[in-house]
Amino acid sequence: MNSAKEKLIIFDTTLRDGEQSPGASMTKDEKLRIARLLERMGVDVIEAGFAISSPGDFEAIKLIAETIKDSVICSLSRAITGDIQRASEALKSANSGRIHTFIATSPIHMKHKLQMQPDEVIAQAIGAVKTARNLIDDVEFSLEDASRSDFEFMCRVTEGVIAAGAKTINFPDTVGYSSPGEYGNIIERLISCVPSSDKAIFSVHCHNDLGLAVANSLSAVNFGARQVECTINGLGERAGNASLEELVMALKTRNELYPVTTSIDPSYIVPISKLVSSITGFPVQPNKAIVGANAFAHESGIHQDGVLKMRETYEIMKAEDVGWTKNKLSLGKLSGRAAFAARIAELDITLDDKNEFERAFKQFKNLADKKREIFDQDLQTLISDVQFGSDEIRYSLIDLEIKTKLGHSPEAKIIVGYEGQVYASEATGDGAVDAIFNAIEKLVNSGTSLKVYSVNAVTQGTDSLGEVSVRLQKDERIVNGQGADTDILIASAKAYLNALTLMQTPDRVHPQFGGI
Ligand code: KIV
Ligand code: ZN
Repeated sequence: MNSAKEKLIIFDTTLRDGEQSPGASMTKDEKLRIARLLERMGVDVIEAGFAISSPGDFEAIKLIAETIKDSVICSLSRAITGDIQRASEALKSANSGRIHTFIATSPIHMKHKLQMQPDEVIAQAIGAVKTARNLIDDVEFSLEDASRSDFEFMCRVTEGVIAAGAKTINFPDTVGYSSPGEYGNIIERLISCVPSSDKAIFSVHCHNDLGLAVANSLSAVNFGARQVECTINGLGERAGNASLEELVMALKTRNELYPVTTSIDPSYIVPISKLVSSITGFPVQPNKAIVGANAFAHESGIHQDGVLKMRETYEIMKAEDVGWTKNKLSLGKLSGRAAFAARIAELDITLDDKNEFERAFKQFKNLADKKREIFDQDLQTLISDVQFGSDEIRYSLIDLEIKTKLGHSPEAKIIVGYEGQVYASEATGDGAVDAIFNAIEKLVNSGTSLKVYSVNAVTQGTDSLGEVSVRLQKDERIVNGQGADTDILIASAKAYLNALTLMQTPDRVHPQFGGI
């Protein structure tokens, strides 16, 4: 490592901004699983949620703050005393906690959303930072919609919040409007025009509405930003945020172009991408940089020939460096508890307690009865399935029988468990999956509409585990349910019931709405 390089702080907001993607909501157990991998990967700051937004988010931040010790744990809060107090309560047990408070500074947001005068905004920003600093040492302040804000006004706000005690100042390109030259220039000018800029870290947070989030972030780094906010798989509000894996690998692969290094261990990139995708039900497009299934595949003969002669002819990174492994044969029918425990530890999978281990082991044995070869990906999916929806309210699949006959409507008979009771139902449909969903709906009458149904084969072969995602919508609320089984009809029933369970968890307040 070049000692002249400065450290770039990697601030991951998959669990907060990432979760603002419609339908990407996560339970507290799911958030914790992602946070554990982020910590192992070397992420400096984990934004675990927005404490005031819902009791579920508060509990998730609290749990992550109690468990994760190597990364700073952060909660978002509007520049409102109640929000800041709630964030501080959630972070009470953190080894290192951070309150991230924000208010919009662009004319359009101040006039139409906040209906406040610029001087009122400055006063509220400074007041919020002071309140936060009375509760915690590490305070970040964001000027929401910075890239559309007046430059002189941003200088005044920044000077004021640094004097009030903010240690990191973040300049979000909230609507993904900026471009690399312009955004880098804004950061450079801010650093030189704000007299106290040496007392704070300047940070960037870019959205991808024009596909420029990573380019804008990298440009800002070259002009003095020393924190980048990003998400796994580029998840996030609308078109998403800057993708962590693209930023980290751009900085690593072309390090001579940048004055910084990061603490990220890239070998966790693919495992965490898969975990986030399976928890949120947001598939990764095959041609996505770094983590897409085709990112290291060579289809044309000329490319294949070149790579065989010398890998570097067409590959600028090594697939294994970012965590792509061969689909390794993992365990078989005769493997016992010790081999199972050893393999899941090698895969960096953490099970919460003995009960969860026993449920996972039982599922593994069931799977081994049906499938001769069990691969690492099977194990990852199987354990995700055990852990999905392990929060309190839960619909469970007890039995399912399907009758299909050419020329006839399929019939589904289902038995569902809910809060200790067992309910039976049957229905027909325009296909077996439709019949299953109709039978469930006869029982629950959820009032939801099905937005997405997708099936993904976890490994190759017709005995592969099928992973099903079901996205349901009711009014403004969108949730994604997951289910896995070698029988895709069973996986579909599980995914639908999981989505119904998520629909029953309390909804949250959106950070960009709600009254300041
Ligand atoms: O995009 C944005 O401006 C945000 C802030 C709340 C930091 O997510
Ligand atoms: Zn954002």
